[in-house]
Amino acid sequence: MAAIPDTGAAPVVQARGLTKRFGERLAVDHVDLDIPAGGCFGLLGPNGAGKTTILRMILGQSPITAGSLTVFGLPVPGAIREIRRRIGVVPQADNADPDFTVIENLRVYARYFDVPRAEAERRIAELLNFVELADRADSPLRELSGGMKRRLSIARALVNDPDLVVLDEPTSGLDPQVRRMIWTRLRQLRRAGKTLLLTTHYMDEAERLCDELVVIDHGRIISRGEPATLIAEQVEAHVLEVQGDRAAVQELLGDCPGLRLETVGEMHYAYTNDLAPVMQRLKLAPQLTYMHRPANLEDVFLRLTGHELRE
Ligand SMILES: Nc1ncnc2c1ncn2[C@@H]1O[C@H](COP(=O)(O)OP(=O)(O)OP(=O)(O)O)[C@@H](O)[C@H]1O
Ligand SMILES: [Mg+2]
Repeated sequence: MAAIPDTGAAPVVQARGLTKRFGERLAVDHVDLDIPAGGCFGLLGPNGAGKTTILRMILGQSPITAGSLTVFGLPVPGAIREIRRRIGVVPQADNADPDFTVIENLRVYARYFDVPRAEAERRIAELLNFVELADRADSPLRELSGGMKRRLSIARALVNDPDLVVLDEPTSGLDPQVRRMIWTRLRQLRRAGKTLLLTTHYMDEAERLCDELVVIDHGRIISRGEPATLIAEQVEAHVLEVQGDRAAVQELLGDCPGLRLETVGEMHYAYTNDLAPVMQRLKLAPQLTYMHRPANLEDVFLRLTGHELRE
């Protein structure tokens, strides 16, 4: 995907030394961030890395402990009311009233943002089509599936025609059809000039959607760049996923030149730029099963953040 064009415009979000402390816990630790206008920017990181906390500070929902933060060039928290009018939010957990219908839920948001009545009805009709929920307009939320609820959250985030759309794990728990539909819609929004800021644990999603991303771990940015560049810089081109006894795999591949071997239980990940010698060795061990694939963003993520479980 193309890099975000450098239009010389001021960044939509700019953070300097942004820090958040919950008691003893440093959730966000001196983060510097410049999110350019008009692209899709990703925040990646293990559970508990601090992604949602950063988003909540941008939205003025969580007080900043230290550092500075501007959105649209305006200071947080000083100008938060003005900022919030121009942001749409798809939260990580949705706790909308289950007795409201789809259309009532959208009307509540339109009123909250003072969208004039006729304009609101026009926009709501358009948004219901956009997320393919027009035929469920009068269904109460409790009757919607998870995928429908998420599509409604996206429609709701767009009611105020925002310049910046913040999406906290927009496709977690959704089936492949809904995920693809949401990707298509997010690309449409990006083409329409909106800035997207999203978090995701799906590396394929980040690879497809994000023009640029940062990897966060323990509240700190540990890497940033375009997905393709990060893959090229951080990991070897080929991955062989080998299944089998640790000692046997070590014996076979351990001293293969240019090979990096990572072992997680019975799975062994062999990273290399030179495929042929590894394949030759694997042919000598027909009892091992393996799969060859190109390196991807998940490999970058695991290389940067390690294989240990977090929370
Ligand atoms: N309100 C709170 N009070 C105390 N600690 C909090 C609070 N909110 C978050 N934390 C802690 O701050 C850290 C960052 O949490 P955060 O929710 O930002 O992580 P995340 O990157 O969004 O994780 P996930 O991928 O699981 O959603 C975690 O250690 C979490 O336990
Ligand atoms: Mg989160």
